[in-house]
Amino acid sequence: MKSFLYSGEILRKAVLAAALVLVVHPAAAQNVNEDAAETLAKAGHCFKCHSVEKAKKAPSYKRIAQKYKGKPDAEAVLIKHLSGSKSVTVEGGGDEQHEPPPAKDAADLKNLVHWILSRG
Ligand code: HEC
Repeated sequence: MKSFLYSGEILRKAVLAAALVLVVHPAAAQNVNEDAAETLAKAGHCFKCHSVEKAKKAPSYKRIAQKYKGKPDAEAVLIKHLSGSKSVTVEGGGDEQHEPPPAKDAADLKNLVHWILSRG
């Protein structure tokens, strides 16, 4: 009986820990389709300027994810950023156009944003 109560306690702690991860890291709660996100990023030539880990002509996706960590409007800001063309200043100087990726639909673009936000 004692060991039964003990395993119940472990289960309770595991459930609490899992819930905590979802609260602290909202991106973890999203079901990101990694393949679809990388395919879209390749199709949009995003890796010409961005990499996941290292700064290139643009900040890494890891840095972008860290910048937006804990910000409730992160998803909306990045969807807006990726919904139109705008001029950005690249590392080393010079302005280039930031073009939107060829997303199939809103969900496809949202998946890419969740993928970026979960790189941090
Ligand atoms: C010509 C180079 C270039 C290409 C190609 C490019 N980016 Fe960027 N991107 C930048 C630069 C430079 C910045 C940082 C300046 C800024 O945010 O204004 C940036 C910023 C971002 C940000 C962060 C915006 C913010 O609010 O902090 C995201 C997200 C992003 N890019 C995603 C993408 C995706 C997805 C693609 C492919 C569709 C892409 N970028 C293609 C240069 C590029």
